[in-house]
Amino acid sequence: MKINTDLLHAHQLHARLTGTYQPAAKAHISPIYQTTTYVLEDFDSAVYLNQHADAGFSYTRFGSPNCDELEKKIAHLEHAEAALAVASGLGAISTAVMSIVKAGDHVVFGDVIYGCSYALFAKVLTNLGVTYTRVDTTNVAAIEAAIQPNTTLVYVETPANPTLKISDIEAIAEAVRKHEGIKMIVDSTFASPYLQNPLDLGADLVVHSATKYLCGHGTVTAGVIAGPKAMIDRCRMPYLQCFGAVLDPFAAWQLMQGMKTLGVRMERHCENAMKIAKWLEKHPKVDRVYYPGLESHPTHEIAKKQMRGFGGMMSVDIKGGMDAVRIVMNNVKVFSLATSLGNVDSLIQHSPSMSHFDMTPEERYASEIFDGQVRLSIGIEDVDDLIADLEQALALI
Ligand SMILES: Cc1ncc(COP(=O)(O)O)c(C=O)c1O
Repeated sequence: MKINTDLLHAHQLHARLTGTYQPAAKAHISPIYQTTTYVLEDFDSAVYLNQHADAGFSYTRFGSPNCDELEKKIAHLEHAEAALAVASGLGAISTAVMSIVKAGDHVVFGDVIYGCSYALFAKVLTNLGVTYTRVDTTNVAAIEAAIQPNTTLVYVETPANPTLKISDIEAIAEAVRKHEGIKMIVDSTFASPYLQNPLDLGADLVVHSATKYLCGHGTVTAGVIAGPKAMIDRCRMPYLQCFGAVLDPFAAWQLMQGMKTLGVRMERHCENAMKIAKWLEKHPKVDRVYYPGLESHPTHEIAKKQMRGFGGMMSVDIKGGMDAVRIVMNNVKVFSLATSLGNVDSLIQHSPSMSHFDMTPEERYASEIFDGQVRLSIGIEDVDDLIADLEQALALI
């Protein structure tokens, strides 16, 4: 089936009702299995389940029917053998990364990635004896040059938060393949499976903050990992088992509902964002617009090659620096002043002090995250209202 049909129907269970009431009926939408544990048939099934984690449900931290349904759907959409649902995007990233790296290893990652992902490498893994090199992942030669004999992971975020740099997944995967023992993870949160499929381009694992476009309504914090079954099994046992970043069944159920409209939402996010980016690019109070759909964007051509649309995210350098940003952020009325992204409604945030506070000012400036920069998550409102809102706020500078 095509993707909009898959978003609604793939792996949607219609659970048979138990008991004697209406024995032939099935629930159209899955029930929420809000239970922490499962009553097992007998002693032998308990022994069997302990040895075969994916054979059934025994304890919600190891898996639940709602997470299972969601995982099958994500695997389907990412063209993966398997997927794992976890409690947040950072839960997905840390679980996936920890399943690959060990003390003494070296990691190569992008100079522009979400601030807390950066903190995982720079502030947590370094304490465990994992070293790293930050590179511009739009430059494949720079990635190759950074690879050391003990490199085991190349971590790429594309589109990158917040400057929307697009890295060429296929070219990086080809370079990584030349070195035995290196895995490649792609954080594809900004694109969602609707706009790109990193595994098809050679990545080993794809991760998403499902908090964002997959949920779409700002009501669930969640993350997913998709890839080959052996790698996903390892993420589940022992990493999810031991770190415990388990996704609550109700959150998994909500995600299943939110994802049904991913296609129509993404089409509208892309359409609105393109119109706003083009309008802002000509605005006298704007220095620069970072949107991969614009021809002026340095990685527009790679975006055209590997994405099916340019997404709903952009950053904007406002003339007048932080003071001008303060005026705009305090005066928008339709946009909400809030971090996060991918919601149906529009959000505005200041990346240096919100999503990327973990980086030093020097690191931020070198990565083009300037003090006068705001990040916009363009929602699905009527685009004229969004433009009018930005216009009245910019006029106050
Ligand atoms: C690209 C990207 N990856 C991962 C995350 C982390 O997601 P979560 O907040 O669900 O842990 C974020 C959060 O903004 C993000 O922007």
